[in-house]
Amino acid sequence: MDKKSFTENEFTQFIDNRGHDLSTHLDLEMHCNLKIKPDDFYDFIEAEWMSSAVLPYEPRPSLSKDANEQMRLANLFGYHTGNTIKRDWGKLEAHNEHFKKIIGDENFSLLGLNPSTCLVRLLCYMPGNIFPVHWDGFEGWAEKFDSWHLTPTRMSVFVSPWSWGHYLQVHDNMISNWAPGDTYIVPDKVLHCSGNGGILPKVTLTITGLPVKE
Ligand SMILES: [Fe+2]
Repeated sequence: MDKKSFTENEFTQFIDNRGHDLSTHLDLEMHCNLKIKPDDFYDFIEAEWMSSAVLPYEPRPSLSKDANEQMRLANLFGYHTGNTIKRDWGKLEAHNEHFKKIIGDENFSLLGLNPSTCLVRLLCYMPGNIFPVHWDGFEGWAEKFDSWHLTPTRMSVFVSPWSWGHYLQVHDNMISNWAPGDTYIVPDKVLHCSGNGGILPKVTLTITGLPVKE
């Protein structure tokens, strides 16, 4: 281990070269609190445990060049299939529609998103798994709606109550101590990461879509 690698490596250089500077502050307030019942999602996960998508955190052809470069660098510096397991439901249209029903119109009004433009994913991170630092490429959303020219809004909704070791970092904001339904906008091109270094599953929703037109 050489001394230089305590402060910089190929991944920090990649981030620095794109102007991401942790010493600058990003203002980030909670967007809203949705009225959701965690049990609705736990019931779904219990029934659908075996149908989740579990993809290795590695470059793949369906992702953008930048997304794949972030994954390649993450792989170089400690992330592998053993510590990045994300259980993920919502790619199936039936699941996506089911989630929209559970969330309901009232909550979509709070979000300010048009449900027909939304892709909803339910994510479950078991203890010991991490989503390394990245920015979002919205590839799944663009593919679903064939809208590669648009930038949607990405929201992260906490479903399970905050517990030991659960965190979301958005630039220099460490988000913790949340309640079910707490919702944050993850701004476009802003670096973020999350993880579960705790003892209970961390369950969240990722809602990606277009704002309601005024
Ligand atoms: Fe993300």
